[in-house]
Amino acid sequence: QSVPNDDMVKSSMQGDDLDASIPFHEHRASAEERLIRSQKHSKEEGGKLTRNVTLLQGVSLIVGVMIGSGIFVTPRYVLLHSGSVGMTLLVWITSGVMATLGALCYCELGTMIQRSGGELTYIQEALGPLPGFLVSWTMVLILKPASVAIITLSFASYAVQPFLKEGNAEPEDLIKLVAAISIIMITTVNCVSSRWAGQMQIIFMIMKLLAIGMIVVIGAARIASGHYENFVSPFKGTNTNVGEIAHAFFSGLWAYDGWNQLNYVTEELQNPHKNLPRGVMIALPLVTICYTLINIAYLSILTPAEMLSSTAVAVAVAEKVHPALVVVMPLFVACSCYGAANGSIFTNGRVVCSAAKEGHMPRYLAAISERFHTPLRAIMFPSFISICMLILGDLGSLLSCFSFVAWIFLGCTFLSLLVLRWKKPHEYRPYKVWIGIPIAMVTISCYLIIAPLIAKPKSSVVAVAFVLSGVPAYFIFVNRNK
Ligand code: ARG
Repeated sequence: QSVPNDDMVKSSMQGDDLDASIPFHEHRASAEERLIRSQKHSKEEGGKLTRNVTLLQGVSLIVGVMIGSGIFVTPRYVLLHSGSVGMTLLVWITSGVMATLGALCYCELGTMIQRSGGELTYIQEALGPLPGFLVSWTMVLILKPASVAIITLSFASYAVQPFLKEGNAEPEDLIKLVAAISIIMITTVNCVSSRWAGQMQIIFMIMKLLAIGMIVVIGAARIASGHYENFVSPFKGTNTNVGEIAHAFFSGLWAYDGWNQLNYVTEELQNPHKNLPRGVMIALPLVTICYTLINIAYLSILTPAEMLSSTAVAVAVAEKVHPALVVVMPLFVACSCYGAANGSIFTNGRVVCSAAKEGHMPRYLAAISERFHTPLRAIMFPSFISICMLILGDLGSLLSCFSFVAWIFLGCTFLSLLVLRWKKPHEYRPYKVWIGIPIAMVTISCYLIIAPLIAKPKSSVVAVAFVLSGVPAYFIFVNRNK
């Protein structure tokens, strides 16, 4: 039996199969090797998106987006809805475990399907083009721009706080202006250089970890000096109402939101089949530990009653500990929000770019700048929508309408994992989760979707109506073009 030589193999292949940029003998590589190799060299038309995102940058992207303003503000709501100190800590730990399990499911999907884009790519692959389009439609036009608008508003309100005279109301227009300026600044950096954006992300991650570390050390010193009265009989007063507990989880999960960031940039991540799971396994436990420790610290410094009456827990802590901290703490929180906005704008650009590549958005948006090697238009587009949202206002109600839609998409993504296991059982999966995890995550998602549907049916219907408005858009713009 003669071994086929290169020419024989070459002539048996269609022109389409051959990629001129790959040496010919490499066409013989097994599917597995090809997958790994293609993960090392990502190719784009026009300008190039290169694999510049290192493991450290990947970790900073996850940690940096997860730690925004939430952990400095929402602990109050978790305590309010859970009813006791013990239950509060349990909600924080459980939310962290849920985020980690969700992220592990995303590792399987992200290493198996190499394209960037996160949910929209996986749902398109498993559930079909229409559901995929509805995800793009809602994420690109509402969810992603709204999250940036909200984070930059938090940034602005903390950034101006030290400069306000005591007792004065917050100047709303000034806050919106500062938020808009921050969006423009971050967008510009992201358009010009992915490297700068990545370095900025690392610097801000270190700063926020230091801020959390500082509060934890203060808390530890309090406990060491015998102030643990709030932890005696921790479960006294626990809320037993299931709806209230769901609310506590929603507040906690918002602070953990952002755990899926790396899946939006798999095409730019170096060695994604290794670095995606590694990034998740470093970032998620790190954030969960930070959040748990900082909550213990809050509760060792403030009484539950003080915590419930503060608008921003971290600032209340500063007031109680040292007057100098009252100026510094809002600036720390502002920096934390700025870093989260930077990471979000970075990944939003990649989501829009992926949506355009899938044909869900105008192809025009998918272009990669030859000069800067960044998806320039795709980065600017959602930032433009964010600024429009800032001007039009009422983001609070927008968010409360749509936070449950985000869970619909997450739930569908976990479902996609199960569908792909069944549809493509033999596909190479560099990382595979235990099947019980996606099943548990689908169940949890159902609960988090149904609970607000029952509690606030009206605003949920508005959000669902928006998602469904994508159906005619699909048939008019997408399906016809195909
Ligand atoms: N977890 C962040 C916070 O606590 C919010 C993340 C918003 N999500 C996003 N994809 N940008 O502020």
